[in-house]
Amino acid sequence: MVINSHTPVMMKQAIEALNVRNKLDYIDATFGGGGYSEEILKKADCNLLSIDKDPKVKNYAHKLKIKYKKRFKFINSDFENLESILKKNNKTSVSGGIVADLGVSSFQLDDSNRGFSFNKDGPLDMRMSGEGITAKELIYSLDEKELAKILWEYGDEEKSRSIARVIVKERSREEINTTFKLVKLIKRVKKGYKRKKHPATKSFQALRIATNKELVSLKKLLMISEKILLPGSRLVVVTFHSVEDRIVKLFFKDISGKTENLNRHLPQVIKDKKVKFKFINKKPLLPSIDEVESNKRARSAKLRVVERMAI
Ligand SMILES: C[S@@+](CC[C@H](N)C(=O)[O-])C[C@H]1O[C@@H](n2cnc3c(N)ncnc32)[C@H](O)[C@@H]1O
Repeated sequence: MVINSHTPVMMKQAIEALNVRNKLDYIDATFGGGGYSEEILKKADCNLLSIDKDPKVKNYAHKLKIKYKKRFKFINSDFENLESILKKNNKTSVSGGIVADLGVSSFQLDDSNRGFSFNKDGPLDMRMSGEGITAKELIYSLDEKELAKILWEYGDEEKSRSIARVIVKERSREEINTTFKLVKLIKRVKKGYKRKKHPATKSFQALRIATNKELVSLKKLLMISEKILLPGSRLVVVTFHSVEDRIVKLFFKDISGKTENLNRHLPQVIKDKKVKFKFINKKPLLPSIDEVESNKRARSAKLRVVERMAI
């Protein structure tokens, strides 16, 4: 079943943090249902280029195109290609800012055919772009150790080894081709768990991240942003779990000259690295209690923002 709504998380704070101004160029790296994009276009007479790797969002983008015409453009691609996307649009820099609201949308989660949700039975797919190897193919291509590593590193799953062992043992007996078959195996390992979270939450997060190579794309986006943002422009990132938030946090510290443990033994080049960005908020912004109560997806969100300085 597909539902037709995605409630954007921390939208007001994100668009405020982006500091949207007239005549400048903005990038929405994760278009989704277009909530952020429309808010940016409403906020000022600016230009917006939005990206999403999921071809299924094209309909939403089409609606904004009709309304905002030349001010808006949508590109169906991975945001890790931002530099080449800009080049194709005869640009090499971004004057206003870049926003990325990471992870999956409700459209993706609620569509059982896409296999993102442990609450809905469907094919074990999990591909945002609909291309490349599926979560099922990934599970079958890894050995037990590799699978455990993914569950641990991308999901913080404390039972990673036991879950990997059960998956590898069972996958030759019965094809693990649906979300519910995978959930059944995870529940077998975590049967005593009486926690707030569903026992498959962490494993599903880990497999989704691995299937979509999410951390590779995120690191590329951050590095490109550092290169192409012009003085006065901002980079706003909303994360949904500690693995991706840590990457953003460390990167922002690094480009703002706040990297910890810099000591006198480091080569001069690193110590003298030009600091080009400044923090707008020292601590990450969090959703309000009201937002968390009305939208469960918001509960783990963190918003971080930096500004390119004029040096
Ligand atoms: C949380 S939703 C964004 C929701 C959006 N802010 C809104 O207001 O509707 C995340 C979106 O980012 C897309 N996405 C995730 N990783 C991506 C990547 N590497 N490149 C492009 N799009 C990506 C997903 O397909 C999904 O549609």
